Amino acid sequence: MTPFKAIEITKDVYWVGATDWTIRNFHGYATHRGTTYNAYLIVDEKVTLIDTVKYDFREEMFARIASVIDPRQIDYLISNHSELDHSGAIPYVKHLAQPEKIIASKMGALTLKEHNLVGDDVQVVKDGETINLGKKTLKFFDTKMLHWPDSMFSYLTDERILFSQDAFGMHLATAERFDDELPFELLRRETAKYYANILLPYSPMVKKLLSKLSAENVKPAMIAPDHGPVWRQDPSKPIELYQHWADQKPVNKAVVVYDTMWNSTGKMAQAIVDGLYEAGTEVVPMHMSSSHRSDAATEILEAGALIVGSPTLNNNLFPTIADTLVYLKGLRRTGLIGAVFGSYGWGGEAFKQLEEYLTDMKVEIVSAPVKAKYSPQDEDLQNCFTLGQNIGAELAKRINQ
Ligand code: FEO
Repeated sequence: MTPFKAIEITKDVYWVGATDWTIRNFHGYATHRGTTYNAYLIVDEKVTLIDTVKYDFREEMFARIASVIDPRQIDYLISNHSELDHSGAIPYVKHLAQPEKIIASKMGALTLKEHNLVGDDVQVVKDGETINLGKKTLKFFDTKMLHWPDSMFSYLTDERILFSQDAFGMHLATAERFDDELPFELLRRETAKYYANILLPYSPMVKKLLSKLSAENVKPAMIAPDHGPVWRQDPSKPIELYQHWADQKPVNKAVVVYDTMWNSTGKMAQAIVDGLYEAGTEVVPMHMSSSHRSDAATEILEAGALIVGSPTLNNNLFPTIADTLVYLKGLRRTGLIGAVFGSYGWGGEAFKQLEEYLTDMKVEIVSAPVKAKYSPQDEDLQNCFTLGQNIGAELAKRINQ
């Protein structure tokens, strides 16, 4: 008998997930504060488990379920999202609980099978379909590409609890299970990081989904995501934040992403930072040997300008900058203005590559590159300062248009 207990989130609905205090790399996303894998148990005539946990945490989940009911009483297993942090324990649940039904979206059934987690035994539900659990009813919403093709929401209609899988979640391991037990600034910061690194490429779908939920008058009293705390104090807050981030409107903030070999590009970055500050722009320098790409992505989520600096190394970008740009390109932040800079010894090939990258990323380049040979002279640093001032002025102009 373990001490692990289920935590009631409302009558007959429980959190039965697991806390991963030690994970620091979640497929390339720096999880500085760990994460949780949330699974939810609904006790009704049909006992229902919504999502599971990463395979390594299956016993903790089972122990929490067993604190409420015998896990063999599970009738329905619903997979809102088939990524392995939520589906990894499905074979274990199948084996030990033998649920009457496994339920997923059409793409979920396929994806679960392609991960070798199930066979052909999944009941497919469509957008808008409902199932009756006894006293409670679950309604399903197709949320394709938020953030996988299989993704769906399950909504407990009378209690108005939205089980939103990854959406509105965050990588944050805490003993607390509810938003009102934690500082809002921490929740905002971690929700922003999650949006920037997981949902951002799908912002047009986020907007459509939010409009659809609003049109259908879905106003959750609680949002229960698959990571982080349950939103119960004011679930409209994460919805408003998603609306704001999905709009991708520029704000008066610039991010200077750079790396340096002998502090030449480093000095240039500092001069640009000073120029931006002088122009009244909030500025965040990100030195990429000491910053993580996923933190750079988070800063860029709420910025209006991206300025990238790299030395030329072996006719190429500096490796940390190449890594960051590949990552940022995939996240498809739109509406940024930008420029590039750096030091070089002979060829200076990095400038062309930086500009090509930013152009591919749809960043509008608004200034010529600032280049310094070997070590920047005062004139080079002045050019960097002016670049910062000009970008700041341009950003202010666009925001005020
Ligand atoms: Fe938390 Fe997309 O898995």
